[in-house]
Amino acid sequence: MKQLLQTLTQIPAPSGREDEIRAAIQKMIQPYADEIRVDALGNLIARKGKKAKDGRRILLAAHMDEIGLMVSHVDTDGFARFSTLGGFRPHRRVGTRIRFLNGVMGVIGLEREAEEKDRAPSLDRYFIDTGANSAKDSPVKVGDAAVYDSLFLDLGDRVVSKCLDDRVGVALLIESLTRLKSGKNEVWYVFTVQEEVGARGAGPASYGIDPEIGLAVDVTVANNMPNTRGRNPISLGGGPAIKVKDAGVVADPRIVQAMTRLAEKNRIPHQFEVIESIGTDARAMQVTGLGAQTGGLAIPLRNLHSPSEMIDMGDVKNAARLLAAFLREA
Ligand code: CO
Ligand code: ZN
Repeated sequence: MKQLLQTLTQIPAPSGREDEIRAAIQKMIQPYADEIRVDALGNLIARKGKKAKDGRRILLAAHMDEIGLMVSHVDTDGFARFSTLGGFRPHRRVGTRIRFLNGVMGVIGLEREAEEKDRAPSLDRYFIDTGANSAKDSPVKVGDAAVYDSLFLDLGDRVVSKCLDDRVGVALLIESLTRLKSGKNEVWYVFTVQEEVGARGAGPASYGIDPEIGLAVDVTVANNMPNTRGRNPISLGGGPAIKVKDAGVVADPRIVQAMTRLAEKNRIPHQFEVIESIGTDARAMQVTGLGAQTGGLAIPLRNLHSPSEMIDMGDVKNAARLLAAFLREA
């Protein structure tokens, strides 16, 4: 699993530029899927099993895209100004290294004047320094996209990397798909595009599948860190979180109850997620077409949307167990 996470997190895929990661995932799952397709938006969709009379059609979604930047213009001195792809917080990222899809490297900078005067400088005061001295010798141009440049760290029980949001979900879906034995349920594995810019891929994918149940497999914010009292009590290492509510969805109580019962029955450590600040593909699945019973499984994570997101491998293992139980028995 660590090896798979390392492989997946090193492939760049800012929102709207998921080609490379999609090709890699498709290659891994092709031999195990009963049916596989890529839709107009670029979602990768694979089916396993066929719905029996007493079975259900279940959609599992994990997003392939990650936080990134896109060049909006290069100024006369060669500094690339940018637009964000997803929840990128520039005030926390001065000095951060980024890598463009064409291999060019750069460093996030902030105008000196804004640094001195302004507590929350606006996005147009930041730039990417690629080492260029003029617009003419800039190695990047308008529309070029970049992601964090960050190595995968293995800390033993915990690992650190960029974009564990949501490559951990992608890895869980890949592992589930390759291991799933056919049963009464029909399972659709959807690797979605453009989640970080507003869950744009999951809706059309869900429309084409028309699931009875939709589950988003994504991350949530872990708060067992210094001085986080009063926040949601989710712990890194405390087990996967069963989604109850996030910024975009109130999970279907039938899904919450089924997951809770299965976690208890199989003695799987678990937590419950009620969070204000993040949304997931669950929202899109719940309200697309005629709708679906929707919930989610969330992996606790520290340093969300930074170059150094951290997860606990025990949480990953327990999420895989809970997901397998759900697909077998839901
Ligand atoms: Co995210
Ligand atoms: Zn995510």
